[in-house]
Parts: sequence; C-alpha cells; structure tokens
Amino acid sequence: SNGEQWPRDGTAAIASQLKSGYNHAVSALWQAERQLHKGMFIYPIFLSADPDLEEPIKSLPNQYRRGVNKLIPFLAPLVAKGLHSVILFGSPPGADVKDASGSMADSLQGPIMPAIPRLREAFPDLYLIADVSLCEYTDHGHCAVLFEDGTVDNEASVARVSDVALSFAKAGIHCVAPSDMSDGRIRAIKLKLISARLESKVAVMSYSAKYASCFYGPFREAAASAPAFGDRKRYLLPPPARGLARKAMTRDLQEGADMIMIKPAYPDIISDGKQLSNVPVIAMQVSGEFAMVHAAAAAGVFDLKAGAFETTEIIVRSGADAILSYFTPEFLDWLS
Ligand code: PBG
Repeated sequence: SNGEQWPRDGTAAIASQLKSGYNHAVSALWQAERQLHKGMFIYPIFLSADPDLEEPIKSLPNQYRRGVNKLIPFLAPLVAKGLHSVILFGSPPGADVKDASGSMADSLQGPIMPAIPRLREAFPDLYLIADVSLCEYTDHGHCAVLFEDGTVDNEASVARVSDVALSFAKAGIHCVAPSDMSDGRIRAIKLKLISARLESKVAVMSYSAKYASCFYGPFREAAASAPAFGDRKRYLLPPPARGLARKAMTRDLQEGADMIMIKPAYPDIISDGKQLSNVPVIAMQVSGEFAMVHAAAAAGVFDLKAGAFETTEIIVRSGADAILSYFTPEFLDWLS
C-alpha cells in the first residue's frame, strides 16, 4: 500500500464497519433478536369424521387427513419431541351431509366434537385450538350463513359461529379460532363463554387480519371447502389493504380477543398487529405458501430446509409470537 491509512479519520468511517459484528457464527447468532423455538409452533391438523381414515392430501406434501384413531398414534412421537399445540380443521363425512347452516361443524357425527375429549385425554399438556368456520360444512362452501340472494347474513352468521365455538368449549377445547370474519363474532363468543361460565377456561384467538388470498388453494382441496359459487372477497380483506387490517385487529381486541392472527403471514401486518396490541400475535404460513416452498425446493431453486427456515424466520422477525406451520414436524427435528 502507499502507506495511507484507511479510514483516515472520523467516527463515521469507524462505525461503518459492520462485518466485525457478525464475522463469527456465535456473534451472527446474537444478531437474531428472536430465535425460533419449538414452543412457537402450532401444527395444523385435518381431522376426518371417519375415526379410522388416513389418506394423503395431494396438494399438500406430507400432510394427511386423519381420523382420531389414526391421529393419536401419529401425534404421540411429535408430542414426545416437543410439540406444544395443534389447530384442528375439520373435514366433513361427505358432501351429502352438508347443509346451509353447516350442522356438521359441531355435530357428534362431525370430525371435531368427538375428537376433543380423546385428544385431551391422550395428551394432557397439548394446547388444543379449533378453527371455527362453517365453510367445510356448508353446502354452498361459504364461511357464513347466507341470505337467499347469496350474500352474507352477518347476524345469523355470528349466532351460528358463536354456537359452534361454545360447543367446542363445552367439549373441552383450550382455544377457539373463528376464521369467518363476521362482524361482532368475538364479542358474541365471549358473551356465550361468560354465560356458560367457561370464560376463564377458553381463549379466543381471532383470525383478525384474514385476507382474501389465493394462497389458500391447497387448503380448500384438503378441507373440501371451496365456495360453490362466488368467492370470499366480500368478507375477507383485500390483499392491498393495510388500514383495514389495523381497524379489524383493533376492533377484535376491543371485543376481547385473547390473541390475534394474521393470515397469510404478511410481515407488515404482523408488525402492525404487534404494535397495536398487548396480546400474542399469531401468524399462519398458509397452505399455498407451504406448497410453494416445497415446489421451489423440488425445482432446485433452494434447499427445502433453508427455505423453510428463512420463510419462518421472516414471520418471527416481523413480531409473531407463534406460527401455524405445516413444517412443524420438521422443525421439531431441526430445532432439537
Ligand atoms: C377457513 C380457513 C381457511 C384457512 C384456514 N381457515 C380457508 C379459507 O378461508 O378459505 C386457510 C389455511 C391454509 O391455506 O393453510 N376454515
């Protein structure tokens, strides 16, 4: 060199040295303000009404529809590895039992009600969440009760969705997660829980910021819940909206939501939710995002594990306290 020193002088140049802060694997680790841990993961389960069924879901790699008799032995090793929580989605017995009010949602012949006490008994420490929605059980495939003209009857929907939540609560669920987006449902559920003296036993996790996303495609196949006509754009949020999500989260918090969910796991909305609330913020890496990571890995775009970590770390870095992830079984191994 010509002997000239660099930086010549000045604190700005000294402070511009970044690499010294992460040039070792340990100091790089400390740059992660929040690290993934097993307790953050909630595993989505597709529960069949046929207790002995076990069948793969074509659009969702490694995911199965299972009846409770198959689910319990499947979950046992995961619980032993540190699984903390599952969310139950129902898959109805068949198209012939679907009706306008989604009766099978909380029927003893449906998938969820008989499974709750079985799971409580088999896994006393597992935190059980149930998705509360009608779309899997209605003949029209919408998440709500409809007027004759096919539009959402909000009042009837709130009444029905809060009844389903109460049924799950009475059966022993720890947490109900209404995903229908009807206005006023959190308040209605809370009031019914109070009347039944279950208010301290059951939490309400609101899907507050649920967007009308194309990324639910594989789920709708898995749960046979695609709408028979129309779409969900009049009751789920438009993806470009941000203020509307803030309004929905604020509203649900005022109605008493114990936790709020953001779906898909849009980072800006997670960050807004964290800023607006004093409750756990949960985000879902939805079926289409999961399928996309698998498809990209299969096409050689990136390594599956690296893709799973990075897409999940984005969610946690944005502020999420827990994540609904189809990668949960893998993370229980990866984080061991
Ligand atoms: C409704 C519900 C859906 C998802 C979770 N709850 C589907 C929908 O709204 O159409 C999507 C989950 C996923 O894509 O993984 N019961």
